[in-house]
Amino acid sequence: MPHDLTFSNSHQDLAARDEDYVLGWRFEPRIIFERGEGTQLFDVDGNAYYDMSSGMMSLTLGHAHPELVDTIKSMADRFTHQSSWYSNPWVIEFAELLATTLPGELKMTNFAVTGSEANEIAMRMALGATGRFDICSMVRGLHGGSLAAESVTSVGGARRRGLGPLTMPARSNCIVPAFYYRAPVDDPDQWDEISLRMTEELIEYTTSQEVAALMLEPIAVPGGMIVPSERWLRGIREIADKWDALLVFDECQLAPARTGKFWAFEHFGVVPDIVTFGKGLTAGFANCGTVTTPEIAEKSRGTKGLPWAGTYPQDPLPCAVGLTQLQIVLRDNLVEKAATEGEFVGKRLREVQDKHDCVGDVRGKGLYRMLDIVTDRESKAPDAEMAERIRYHALEEGLLLIVVKNYVRFCPPLIASHEELDDMVGRLDAAIAKAELGLDIGTDLSASGSLATNNITR
Ligand SMILES: Cc1ncc(COP(=O)(O)O)c(C=O)c1O
Repeated sequence: MPHDLTFSNSHQDLAARDEDYVLGWRFEPRIIFERGEGTQLFDVDGNAYYDMSSGMMSLTLGHAHPELVDTIKSMADRFTHQSSWYSNPWVIEFAELLATTLPGELKMTNFAVTGSEANEIAMRMALGATGRFDICSMVRGLHGGSLAAESVTSVGGARRRGLGPLTMPARSNCIVPAFYYRAPVDDPDQWDEISLRMTEELIEYTTSQEVAALMLEPIAVPGGMIVPSERWLRGIREIADKWDALLVFDECQLAPARTGKFWAFEHFGVVPDIVTFGKGLTAGFANCGTVTTPEIAEKSRGTKGLPWAGTYPQDPLPCAVGLTQLQIVLRDNLVEKAATEGEFVGKRLREVQDKHDCVGDVRGKGLYRMLDIVTDRESKAPDAEMAERIRYHALEEGLLLIVVKNYVRFCPPLIASHEELDDMVGRLDAAIAKAELGLDIGTDLSASGSLATNNITR
């Protein structure tokens, strides 16, 4: 698996053509992949890498899972797409089964193509059901790239630069996160009280006081894997109730099972009014959505463009694949597996942290962990360059990581075996050791991935 990151001429030719014709963010070196199997991806030269981000955090069962392949094949010559103003058995079964995983009356799903769209549906529902306008989201939260979802996103970097009035004004990114690692006080309990009080103050003074919803990820992943306390998330529920606003949880990065509970909000004993899903529940197809109660669905029906339809939501092929995946997640008890193996991975990653000063903190739950890379433990200053170097050396070790800013993600498919998980941590350890040596790697990483996104000056 380990290799020296030299690529064949035909591989380099594809990378050059990709640069000339395909517009997209790219990590350096550009690697062109042609196949996936289980936990691994293979580039066009046949080099294997563990897929440490499960695609875009979507392949809960890894690549080419045989039962999903069977479903795709059987749907391909039967039924792939239909008018979204009619229904099909697979969308009904998916929605019914999903409802069994949710508490209370959360059982009506409005389907969407992307997570961004699901979050926009959630906002429309909140406006429709409450008759109010302001959406309050969390600092360091991310809800997608479509314009309204971007407006409630606040993960820093250059994302919103230049969008000007295209982002919506009726929002306040005002929930102060329970980011204990970089909080100005050391005591998490004290920070819970301060951040909740600041949140209340900001809602009162930065909004129109016509609050439709508080919207956040129960564990904010892209913003730094911020795991709050039960007290903090309960406090957010109380603030929503006080303002008579709905509580929306975005679980696009979290469900199903990844954190050791089917829904991450189950860790905190707090139930939302609306929950959105994407990525991990899609199996890599366009099967996202927004779940709410029949009461909220009815109140918002016929207003704000709801129910949402569009061209592709609830198509038979993606719903059938999502359904098969959901059945497997429940049948194989992947919740329990993520919880148990997550304990092991958490322990192993803390050992890695002890060995390397640049690993300031390891956060997360279950099989979703994040390393916070710092210049030194005292200042905790984020070190995005070092994180990129870790990503580069991890490729040499046969690990394909997503690194954004100074955050290194550990998000393998949930089907990974105990031995594979142990192997992944060992390779990550070796990659960090190499990165710390500061070797001349002969590759310009400033053009790579998140370093490039942060350095936009135009
Ligand atoms: C928490 C969260 N919500 C929503 C989205 C948007 O999902 P999509 O890219 O499918 O629009 C993302 C994407 O990264 C996300 O991380």
